[in-house]
Amino acid sequence: MSRRLHPAVAGAQPFQLAERDPDAPLFGSEEGRERLEAILSRYPTRRAALLPLLGYAQELHGWISTGDMEEIAEVLELTPAYVWSVASFYTMYNKHPAGRHMIQVCTNISCHLNGAPRVLEEFLEQTGTVEGETTEDGRFTVLEAECLGACGFATAVQINDAYHENVTPEKVAEILASLDGPESS
Ligand code: FES
Repeated sequence: MSRRLHPAVAGAQPFQLAERDPDAPLFGSEEGRERLEAILSRYPTRRAALLPLLGYAQELHGWISTGDMEEIAEVLELTPAYVWSVASFYTMYNKHPAGRHMIQVCTNISCHLNGAPRVLEEFLEQTGTVEGETTEDGRFTVLEAECLGACGFATAVQINDAYHENVTPEKVAEILASLDGPESS
């Protein structure tokens, strides 16, 4: 389905979504070409479109592979090494496949004082993972995060593009149950 995004928002879409298609071509489809053109039209130079295009790759595939980086480098007339250097600088870009639900628990100062370590522990225990590991069914990856900018609502948890605030260990089961079912493939 083509979304025909307005250029003004083409580079600012949520880039961590549960719905994704790991095999979809980046720019080989009509939608991909439209996204590329819409994003490029917002910037004075091709190089300036690098971050939004990395975001698009992650939105589509759930992570950014070296193949994605090479394609992006080609359309932006950059070297793959340059694209990698930028992608590797930002933790928000996944350089490895991630679970469909990426759970980021803030353990920075406000959240830490309000019990974040217990919340993190609970997410890890209930998903049966260690930090950064993805469940076998591909549903969850749990990560410890730096300040999510919601310090007044500690503990803050970001799951894909949604924020959960005032999270306590007791709420973890309910949050996990509200997410979708096992990977179907
Ligand atoms: S310290 Fe957790 S959101 Fe800022």
